[in-house]
Amino acid sequence: MIVKAFPQDFVWGVSTSAYQVEGAWNEDGKGESIWDRFCHTPYRIANGDTGDIACDHYHRMPEDVALMKELGVKGYRFSIAWTRIFPDGKGKINPKGLDFYDRLVDELGKAGILANATLNHWDLPQALQDLGGWANRDTTDRFAEYARVMFDRLGDRVALWATHNEPVVVTSGYLGGSMAPGLADASVAYRVAHHLNLAHGKAVQVFRQGGYPGKIGIVLDLQNYIPESDSEADVLATHRMLDHSHHLFLDPIFKRQYPQGLMEWLGTIAPQPQEGDMEIISTPIDFLGLNYYFTLKVRYEPWGGLLKAAARPFSAPMWSQTEMGWGVHPEGLTAILLKLRNHYGNPDIYITENGTAAPDQPDEHGFVQDRERIAYLRRHLIAAHDAIQQGVNLRGYFVWSFMDNFEWALGYRPRFGIVRVDYATQKRIPKLSAYWYREVIRQNAVWE
Ligand code: FCB
Repeated sequence: MIVKAFPQDFVWGVSTSAYQVEGAWNEDGKGESIWDRFCHTPYRIANGDTGDIACDHYHRMPEDVALMKELGVKGYRFSIAWTRIFPDGKGKINPKGLDFYDRLVDELGKAGILANATLNHWDLPQALQDLGGWANRDTTDRFAEYARVMFDRLGDRVALWATHNEPVVVTSGYLGGSMAPGLADASVAYRVAHHLNLAHGKAVQVFRQGGYPGKIGIVLDLQNYIPESDSEADVLATHRMLDHSHHLFLDPIFKRQYPQGLMEWLGTIAPQPQEGDMEIISTPIDFLGLNYYFTLKVRYEPWGGLLKAAARPFSAPMWSQTEMGWGVHPEGLTAILLKLRNHYGNPDIYITENGTAAPDQPDEHGFVQDRERIAYLRRHLIAAHDAIQQGVNLRGYFVWSFMDNFEWALGYRPRFGIVRVDYATQKRIPKLSAYWYREVIRQNAVWE
């Protein structure tokens, strides 16, 4: 047996997001978000599911934190629902919303669990969407305002802050498809991407000016894209995909510029920074959050939309696809981590999401022996360990997800949790993977 030991102080965590677990969508003064609106629109979400109740985490938060503690978890990544704080996106603050997150970070503190808070995990206030949402430059200032309120209230107890989660998915919400706000207007989408970057930079500046004790970064989903063949057309299509999903966000933040190739490809619909924007966006961050799930093989495809590219899931030998139809390729994680080391100045990195939706089969007690999930997590941790050995500054790992939850447009069918949620009773039942993870944490190591 080979034991792969992780560095001391490595943060072993679990991850969720507000809309996916909290429920209580209109309680205690919470306003409507674009995800509330989207889910309440017929035919948007599989099975007509909504996040109205979700895992009822809003009411069960203390017991959820207690379970994390029991499982030995060292960090909890959650997101803050902007609409609990500013029900109308701006103006009047809702004290009860602030109180909820205040209680959460206190509870985490008592349990000795590090707090990792994301400000925007996609649930923009609907009131701001009505004014254009992220297409409206004014939203960047509203975001900075909201960020300041949160830093002021929780800044003494939150160790890690992230501005956005996966801004490319927010951008996709304006390109058409299955994510809120469900618009399809490519001429707006890249303005949205720029405003997300600008909002990020403004929030980082507020954080720096306030001198808060924690660290701040952004969470990007960087999947591994490789060309289907070495033909020039496939290689260029892969570059376009990478520019769109990686470099559109990485480059302005780390290199103060947009990827030139993509700018030329997009022409008049490319981001149009105003003077000073790039300086704001590239305000140094303390860490990068990485969400990694899969590898895609890319080919040139004349009907492949704006980017003229198409992608299919790729799995390493012996692996089938997950319940999401995603491939499994742990080495892809090492590749992405090395890319960040080689081309983006070897930043401090936390893997803020990684995990899988497996075909869980509960026994009569609701217990799930999810060996597939354990195999997935173990291989990805080994891949992460390989990267650390090659000099990557990886500081922590947060499993997606702490518990089964609302998987956006796919509703409740895919189950990502290491804890099973029986939605009829809201009972939490740790799966075998939760006990396995507890052992990983205890030993600060994986073994193969
Ligand atoms: C990521 C999201 C997260 C979750 C996982 C499965 O893209 O950030 O909320 O849905 O995928």
